[in-house]
Amino acid sequence: MADRYLTNEDLEARFSALDAFLVAHQSLWRPAPFTERELSWERTHPKLSAWLRCRSLAEADAQHTTPHELNAPAPFGEWASQALQLAALGPLPSQQIHAVSNRLSVDVPGRKWTQIQAFAGHLAFQHAPSHWLDWCAGKGHLGRVLAGKESRLTALEHDPQLVADGQALSERHGLIEASHIQQDVLQADVLRHLGHDTTPVALHACGDLHTTLIQHACTANVPALAVAPCCYNRTNATVYVPFSQRGKASALQLDRKDLGLPMTETVTAGQRVRQQRDQSMARRLAFDLLQRRLRGVDAYLPTPSLDTCWLKQPLSAFCAHLAECKGIELPPQIDWQALETAGWERLAEVRNLELVRGLFRRPLEMWLLLDRALLLSEHGYRVNIGTFCPPDVTPRNVMLLAERDD
Ligand SMILES: C[S@@+](CC[C@H](N)C(=O)[O-])C[C@H]1O[C@@H](n2cnc3c(N)ncnc32)[C@H](O)[C@@H]1O
Repeated sequence: MADRYLTNEDLEARFSALDAFLVAHQSLWRPAPFTERELSWERTHPKLSAWLRCRSLAEADAQHTTPHELNAPAPFGEWASQALQLAALGPLPSQQIHAVSNRLSVDVPGRKWTQIQAFAGHLAFQHAPSHWLDWCAGKGHLGRVLAGKESRLTALEHDPQLVADGQALSERHGLIEASHIQQDVLQADVLRHLGHDTTPVALHACGDLHTTLIQHACTANVPALAVAPCCYNRTNATVYVPFSQRGKASALQLDRKDLGLPMTETVTAGQRVRQQRDQSMARRLAFDLLQRRLRGVDAYLPTPSLDTCWLKQPLSAFCAHLAECKGIELPPQIDWQALETAGWERLAEVRNLELVRGLFRRPLEMWLLLDRALLLSEHGYRVNIGTFCPPDVTPRNVMLLAERDD
């Protein structure tokens, strides 16, 4: 059966199944192989561990976006099929968008324009909105596509330059009913923009930005809203406080680091960016091996992020700088060549061990989405959750559509 999108009737059951799965397998997805040299599950599954640790970096990377397809020793396949089944999600019904003037795409980067069209093409509300509220709008490209010349548009954005650019673009395109307003959406006075006639939309509003919208929407009783969340870990809360009653009853306790797991899928980075990221990680892992040895403490030591120009320096200079930052004295004789090799070997191990965590990226994201959806449903909204574009357009391709029943 083809994957289908979820409706109100599915929310509770899917959330409970995901919750049980995530709680039962915490030891598989919580510890990060980058910071821990040995993971607790490796002792209980030595065959799987040894198999993963022997594979190359290229082999790991080839499977990064499809870890469930890996033909690894048991019980990997069992975890993979459960994860796949629990995270299954089909596309939302699509709808015709009113003829969008190609002129509107001017100044919009190609991938962003594709995302905007896909988002707009899946906003199938029963009642046509008359006043769109583009939440964290940037220049308001999405809002302009939705409002066209027929409906009102209010675009909220805190960066004054983007507000001014957005207003100028709306005027250039003849959208007289558009107002771009400078507003920090995390301030309480944002509530004045939410009312019985406004339909908020948020495309890729990070962490607290989209959860604030969902909570305010419930309070203000907006007729409908659509949110495509991203960056769940961009939150001021150090510990995740679930939004829904069902979420609050869960035994799952998530911190900011856990909330970063859904974002560890990288599909959009180009070749050069990937090479830089690999080199930087291999070097950090090399430094990690060194600092453990020198300190005589087998524990990860967080280090500050460095500008990419440091990658052009030899490993010895890179490590000397980090050592200085952490107050570690380097001995004169270090085999830098051997350390460089060891760093790359560690990176291959880390990426392969990450494939186990990779199985849980989407289930955890679904759990977080369902917690938001259940809050809306508890407030009388009919909620649909589904994809609005394929993952190669954006890995954050899930949209939550909510409309009041009445
Ligand atoms: C990832 S961008 C998304 C922009 C737009 N929705 C899109 O898809 O092109 C997030 C936007 O939120 C804005 N933003 C960040 N924090 C904000 C805040 N506290 N209040 C209002 N806007 C904010 C940023 O300036 C940025 O334009």
